[in-house]
Amino acid sequence: MLNFEYCSPTRIVFGREAEKRTGELARRFGKKVLVHYGGGSIKRNGVYDKVVASLKEAGVDFVELGGVQPNPRLSLVREGIRLCKEEGVDLILAVGGGSAIDSSKAIAAGLKYDGDVWEMFLDGSKGPFDALPVGVVLTIPAAGSECSNGCVITAEEGWLKRDIGGECLVPAFAVMNPEFTFTLPAYQTACGASDILAHMFERYFTQVTHTDLTDRLLEAAMRTILIQAPIVLREPENYDARAEVMWTGTIAHNNLLDTGRLGDWASHNIEHELSGMYDIAHGAGLAIVFPAWMRYCWKENPARFVQLAVRVFDVDLAFGQTQEIVEEMIRRLENWYRSLGMPVRLHEANIGEDRLREMAKKCFIARQIGNFKKLDEEDVYQIYRLAL
Ligand code: NZQ
Ligand code: ZN
Repeated sequence: MLNFEYCSPTRIVFGREAEKRTGELARRFGKKVLVHYGGGSIKRNGVYDKVVASLKEAGVDFVELGGVQPNPRLSLVREGIRLCKEEGVDLILAVGGGSAIDSSKAIAAGLKYDGDVWEMFLDGSKGPFDALPVGVVLTIPAAGSECSNGCVITAEEGWLKRDIGGECLVPAFAVMNPEFTFTLPAYQTACGASDILAHMFERYFTQVTHTDLTDRLLEAAMRTILIQAPIVLREPENYDARAEVMWTGTIAHNNLLDTGRLGDWASHNIEHELSGMYDIAHGAGLAIVFPAWMRYCWKENPARFVQLAVRVFDVDLAFGQTQEIVEEMIRRLENWYRSLGMPVRLHEANIGEDRLREMAKKCFIARQIGNFKKLDEEDVYQIYRLAL
């Protein structure tokens, strides 16, 4: 097990009517809030009205900025920074999913950065070191951004999708009412489940040894998502199944399951080129990339793959040789993705082979790829090809 330092300071208020606490929580950070949200789902399903009522009741003044797109854009971040400066905002309240939260985090970091916010995305040594506080009202379990220190933004110039990370980006609070997820379209529910599972795969595939506790915590959480996601697709208003998925989404990415180990993260970086270039949902991209990555990389540590196959995917050790066990696990994983309606090949997401080289090259701009197996440009290209 590796040395580690762990701090997860987000105050989580979870359950029915949790949103009634929003105003009181926001009030702790000042008097004026930017309410930042996406394309309007919160106005259609009543979440916006409930959040605004809570802010008013607590005497919190607010301005709002909607229009965050999935794969949030840099131009709106810049607009948010301008607005917050003009209005003297004390806290940014993201109402939505990973996109609204990440856009809020980028605004929060940009407000404390002496330069253009995108510079930090291209050069991690520039920050972020400070940010305005961010609060969250979560409406989709997926990205885990409600407790993570990460933030992913797409720059329209060159369609480059890049992330920043830092303790200052961890939200101050997250209000999580599973009922808010009842209105999610099946496709978004499935994309969320795929992302949640991927966050655990990234951590599970480590070369660090003596990680038995976090292995088993990850295995339990992975089994939970594998079982509960199909239930919420069948029964969108099943509160308990929605609650299981929502809480798993947070646990999967708040770094508790990272402690003492070094995760891989190649598949996320390989996927970010897909969603940056083709604007597909991140979770759908991961369902395409992970099986291909697994087929390409399993020989780096076959025992780890067999452990996952047996403990999480119920493949019997007597099933066959190591390669057959691993292939059977990947087949079961692909069936699970398919049962949720996820694509598992590039062509199923209408992506051809014409830009694979370009994406493999872009993948390496300002970073290294992979820890379980260090990848070079040719490796990434071959993984894209395996996903065709
Ligand atoms: O925009 P609106 O109208 O709100 O609709 C959204 C959006 O179209 C809809 N939606 C959300 N809640 C809903 C709802 N529709 C009906 N009812 C509800 N309750 O769902 C769509 C997707 O929302 P989005 O916020 O984009 O989803 P997600 O949470 O998956 O976020 C994806 C972004 O997060 C990044 C991804 O790369 C992607 O850009 N990630 C961020 C991470 C982090 N900061 O730690 C880690 C992740 O690995 C990920 O990379
Ligand atoms: Zn993800």
